[in-house]
Amino acid sequence: MSDLKATLNIDGNAIEYPVIQGSDGPDVIDIRKLYAQTGKFTFDPGFTSTASCESALTFIDGDEGILRHRGYDIEELSEKSSFMEVCYLLLNGELPGKQQLHDFSYTISRHTMLHEQLATFYRGFRRDAHPMAIMCGVVGALSAFYHDSTDIADPDHRKISSHRLIAKMPTIAAMAYKYAMGQPFLYPDNHLSYTGNFLRMTFGVPAEPYVVNPIVERAMDRIFILHADHEQNASTSTVRLAGSSGANPFACIAAGIACLWGPAHGGANEAALNMLREIGTPDRIPHYIARAKDKNDPFRLMGFGHRVYKNYDPRASVMRQTVREIMAELKINDPVFEVALQLEEMALNDPYFIEKKLFPNVDFYSGIILSAIGFPTEMFTVLFALSRTVGWVAQWNEMISDPGQKIGRPRQLYTGPGHRPYVDIAAR
Ligand code: CMC
Repeated sequence: MSDLKATLNIDGNAIEYPVIQGSDGPDVIDIRKLYAQTGKFTFDPGFTSTASCESALTFIDGDEGILRHRGYDIEELSEKSSFMEVCYLLLNGELPGKQQLHDFSYTISRHTMLHEQLATFYRGFRRDAHPMAIMCGVVGALSAFYHDSTDIADPDHRKISSHRLIAKMPTIAAMAYKYAMGQPFLYPDNHLSYTGNFLRMTFGVPAEPYVVNPIVERAMDRIFILHADHEQNASTSTVRLAGSSGANPFACIAAGIACLWGPAHGGANEAALNMLREIGTPDRIPHYIARAKDKNDPFRLMGFGHRVYKNYDPRASVMRQTVREIMAELKINDPVFEVALQLEEMALNDPYFIEKKLFPNVDFYSGIILSAIGFPTEMFTVLFALSRTVGWVAQWNEMISDPGQKIGRPRQLYTGPGHRPYVDIAAR
């Protein structure tokens, strides 16, 4: 803690609050005693100025466009590392050595199968159910299956739950896809990489051998890395809040999945691609830009803007490059790509977007890649959930391991009616 203090002058009193310095990023004013000392709360809907916890996992500098996991730049991780390595890093704090990576990947591969009973859960859903609805349900249901590891105070139990979640998510996601397609579920093949196995379970069929395309595998792995963790975003905060009561980890992750589903968060890549398809041809772009700028029109350019990044989204830069690689490899000539490039160009040169610091975010490009690989739009948020699971479990673990951890319980500014007597129904 630094010697810095912030002084609050209130009701004729000057009260000092400690200023705490992190290893990077803005200092925080420790106001934990504010209510006890002043009888007042702070008011910060949307948490735009509130640090909800202490964390050593991920650092973001929105003005500089920086995203780092445990100190490593996302650009470097996505270029040089693998998703398994990033999972290990997030969970353990350091990059693994060769043997550690081998052991970790092996452990994850030992948990890829689902309890056979879970297949019947899928059959309870309509074939046209949104895969995120299935994912919420199935992941929540996992809490009913693993009674051997429910003591969240035990680090070994937390570890095995974390491994199970990371390992089973690709199987759950692929099964949601297969169910919608009316194709048989494929069991995992643990000889393949984490990402190769997922591609096979999704696009393979039992009737034929499936050959993993290494360029697609690499692009997919990169998408997983880019989405692995993102500090205290809405779904991660949801997981932490749910977990703060001591709830079952599978149920907490199901809560995170529910939060991620919304179009302002993980649902944005689906919304962005739908928007690009709706625009259809470059000549219609100005109409949509005008709509985005019109205060009386709720329409927003999906895939643009970010709560934290006000310069550029570093994940978007990596994605932009990957779009080109995938389009060339798969020889795809989708007009949506041309619309995306021209929309990006026009918006980046438009004073409205410049003044409001609205740049393409990761979701603007990821949808184009996922669509080129063959995923239907409904699967996009599912893939985000799959990748973010490691971030959720790492953050949940960090929270539970903190000896000072308390149940999350925000307060409010009450604006409802004052006290009034009950009126009998006959007199209303
Ligand atoms: N199109 C047009 N105008 C926009 C957009 C947009 N995409 N985003 C923000 N604005 C305007 C907004 O109308 C507001 O204008 P004014 O100051 O005149 O009222 C100003 O920019 C600030 O917007 P805000 O809603 O106060 O900013 P926020 O930080 O609360 O919202 C956001 C961030 C991501 C929810 C928002 O930019 C948005 O809705 N973007 C589209 C959805 C999207 O792409 N979401 C994915 C986020 S990245 C993935 C993830 O990390 O989950």
